[in-house]
Amino acid sequence: MKIGVIGTGYVGLVTAVCLADLGHKVAGTDVIPEKIDKASRGIAHIYEPGLEDLLRKNLKKGNLSFIHDLAKTIQSSDVLFVSVNTPQREDGSADMTYVEGVSRKIADNLNSYKLIVEKSTVPVKTSNWIKRTISLHKKKEVDFDVASNPEFLREGSAVSDFLNPDRIIIGVETERARDILLSIYRKFKNKILVTNIDTAELIKHASNSFLALKISYINLISDLCEKTDADIELVSKGMGLDPRIGSHFLRAGVGYGGSCFPKDIKALARIGEDFGVDVNLLKEAERINLRRSELFLEKIKKALWILKDKKVAILGLSFKPQTDDIREAPSIKIIRKLLEEGSELRLYDPKAVENMRKIFPEKPPQIFYAKSSSEAIKGANALLIITEWEEFKKLDLKKVKKLMANPIIVDGRNIFEPSQVKSLGFEYYPTGRK
Ligand code: UDX
Ligand code: UDX
Repeated sequence: MKIGVIGTGYVGLVTAVCLADLGHKVAGTDVIPEKIDKASRGIAHIYEPGLEDLLRKNLKKGNLSFIHDLAKTIQSSDVLFVSVNTPQREDGSADMTYVEGVSRKIADNLNSYKLIVEKSTVPVKTSNWIKRTISLHKKKEVDFDVASNPEFLREGSAVSDFLNPDRIIIGVETERARDILLSIYRKFKNKILVTNIDTAELIKHASNSFLALKISYINLISDLCEKTDADIELVSKGMGLDPRIGSHFLRAGVGYGGSCFPKDIKALARIGEDFGVDVNLLKEAERINLRRSELFLEKIKKALWILKDKKVAILGLSFKPQTDDIREAPSIKIIRKLLEEGSELRLYDPKAVENMRKIFPEKPPQIFYAKSSSEAIKGANALLIITEWEEFKKLDLKKVKKLMANPIIVDGRNIFEPSQVKSLGFEYYPTGRK
């Protein structure tokens, strides 16, 4: 069985490489030629731990190839994973233009039976549209099936998530489609849940939105901790010990970002509204998240009073550690606000600087990209922690204090112990604790 992966972005590239690693013959394709050129040479266009090694291994084995020609990929594949992006439109709904475009291209090139698998996060009922589009435009009387196999990969651990899944959801409506997907994922047969397509599509949106709710909830509790003597880290720990709640996704901070949560919760709310369902719960979670960067800024103001001309060091630009991805990163909103206030920003991230430069080009003294934490911190009036990279947790705080103009830390991710930081003479503003 030959597998084609259409769209080799964050999701598609990991999917192509890992499916090849499971022993399948995989070809990846993308409209951006550089992504294909790089991947063919064993270079991943994104930073994802372990990805490049597996990419090279499977290119060498001959399991994996990357080709520019979408038509050729379609014609020579039995199964097509569609992982093109589904950006957000102004009204919060998902823009399905690329999915439609790919569906039409599949229709044009349908030369034998194919199983088309939605990998992108799509609104419930999308498969009906894909089916309709292909049926309307196909040139030959050839059978095809559509299935949904949502991805649950977390950036920063996407390869290990793919190869050690908690669950694999397969949404199908024919036995043929089910058997193909069961065979592709046979290595994980105990982890597979087979459903109908609407259910599979909804599982993805419902899971991501639930996790976003959980984060907004803990952030709400964290605000309450700041007004009282409660400590959010211990509240989270205490709550997480209850297996019904679980300890994951209870980290308070500057809010959730990334290409999924902000977009998916809006899209689910939008779908709900379209079907006449009350979705205010989702909207509240989103509103709480939007407020996180404002609250963080208020804290910076509390520490610095006037922000104009203050040198502010920012550690962490990516939306989470272990990735170069800055899509919907809380850092973007915070940087924008600080620039409006006239601060001079000294930015550092282990992987995301190049991506951030595209949004905020270097322009000293307002925007300066440092090559290390120390360089960013030097002479700063305040240090902000926005992403909890391991290397920031290991900072030598005595050295940090010497480098800074004023020893002030505003920590949006609670990476330090308040008592320790304060004993070194810092003014410390953590999140949800004192
Ligand atoms: C995307 C969606 O954002 C997400 O909702 C979904 O779950 C999976 O797909 P991601 O892989 O992170 O996630 O997006 P991105 O990195 O933008 O990758 C999409 C790729 O598709 C890009 O490389 C883009 O060039 C490519 N593409 C897009 C095509 O090959 N053809 C198109 O017509 C449109
Ligand atoms: C998410 C889902 O976890 C994954 O299953 C899905 O397929 C894609 O979307 P991802 O966006 O890569 O993955 O990152 P995730 O680890 O879920 O974090 C998302 C955001 O939530 C990050 O900005 C992170 O900092 C934030 N977060 C996470 C918190 O603020 N607190 C937490 O406790 C956990």
